[in-house]
Amino acid sequence: MTPFGIRKRLKALLGLEGGSSSAPQPPALPSYDVVFDCPDGSTYTVSAKEGDSLVYAAGRGPQPISTGCTDGTCGTCRVDVLEGAEFLTVADGHELKTKADVGVPDAQRLACQSGVLGAGVRVKITNILGEEPIDP
Ligand code: FES
Repeated sequence: MTPFGIRKRLKALLGLEGGSSSAPQPPALPSYDVVFDCPDGSTYTVSAKEGDSLVYAAGRGPQPISTGCTDGTCGTCRVDVLEGAEFLTVADGHELKTKADVGVPDAQRLACQSGVLGAGVRVKITNILGEEPIDP
């Protein structure tokens, strides 16, 4: 019996015959455009799914955001939110503690801890580590 035959037999035993197309699918998450202002003065726009972090969304463009930990403890990913701060997740106690501990200004957010919740977000990438844009 081939590996595919085993898979087919297991599906039959588990009552999954006919594939997963009949299984209910979760609704697709909405997407929102996010504008990033780069340190070199250029801008780019990416589409972020609801809940994507700014670090994750920026990774789809030519200028990534500097990161160290991506869990909100180093403060490397600090960005200036120029527009649409109300369409980002609220800074929680963990982010606020990190900002206080490492000296991130109150006006800045940690991009790895900021989830996109709506349209109209515009962010200035600070890139304190000085990464260069990625060549297309
Ligand atoms: S990458 Fe470390 S706080 Fe965001």
